[in-house]
Amino acid sequence: NYFQTQTNTLSGETILITAGPTKEMIDPVRFLTNRSSGKMGYALAEEAVKMGAKVILVSSVDSLPISKDVQLIKITSAEDMYQAVMDKYQQATIIIKSAAVADYRPKQISQQKLKKKDGNLIIEFERTKDILLELGKKEDKPFLVGFAAETENIDEYAWSKLERKNADIIVANDVSREGAGFEGDTNIVTLYKKNHTKKELPLLSKNQTAKEILLEIHRDLKEGVR
Ligand code: CTP
Ligand code: CA
Repeated sequence: NYFQTQTNTLSGETILITAGPTKEMIDPVRFLTNRSSGKMGYALAEEAVKMGAKVILVSSVDSLPISKDVQLIKITSAEDMYQAVMDKYQQATIIIKSAAVADYRPKQISQQKLKKKDGNLIIEFERTKDILLELGKKEDKPFLVGFAAETENIDEYAWSKLERKNADIIVANDVSREGAGFEGDTNIVTLYKKNHTKKELPLLSKNQTAKEILLEIHRDLKEGVR
C-alpha cells in the first residue's frame, strides 16, 4: 500500500551523509569556518531513516535533534571529515555531501594562543583535500550526491562540479535568494543530473527538500544509474 512504499523506499540502502561546516583551528581558541547550520544534512538524515535507510552522519554539529537510529560521527576539520568518510564509504550505497567543507586551512596551527601585535596579521593557508573529488575517482564508488551553494552563475558552476567531481547529482542553491539562505528552515534547490536534465524544486522546508532529493536518488537507482 501507499504508506509502505513511502516509508520503505530506501530499505537496504546505507547512506553516508556529511553535514554542517568544518572548523580549521588557527590556535587553541580560534578557528576558520564556513557559514552553514547543518540543518539540510540533518534533514536528509532524518528523512532517510524514515524511508528505511541505515544512516551514518559525519558532522561537526551535534546540537541538532536527530533520530537515535542515526550513527553520528563527530568531526572538527576537513581532514577529520576526509578520514571518517574514507573509513566508512565502503559501507555506503549512497553518499550525500551536504557539508560545507573548508577549502583552506592554516598551514600551521599555533600550539599557543596568538598574542596581538601592532600591524596586520598574515596567516598562510593551504588547500584541504577535496573529499567528493576523491570519492568520484574510486572504482567502487557509491551513488554520489554533492551540494553547491553559489551566489552567481549557478548553472555553469553546477554542471562543471557534476562533471569534475564525477558525481551523480549536484544539488545547487542560490544562497543570495530569500528562503534559500543558511540558518533558515527552508531551501530552494535545483538538481543537476548525470543525464543532463535538471530539476528545479520550489521553496520548501528543508525536510521536504530532503525528501524530494531522496526520492530522486531512489528513482535513479531503480533505473540503474549507480
Ligand atoms: N567538497 C568536499 N571537499 C572539499 C570541498 C568540497 O567534499 N574539500 C564537496 C562539498 O561537500 C560539496 C561539493 O564538494 O558537496 C561542492 O562544494 P563546493 O564548495 O561548492 O565546491 P568546490 O569544489 O569547493 O568549489 P568552490 O568552493 O570554488 O565553488
Ligand atoms: Ca568550496
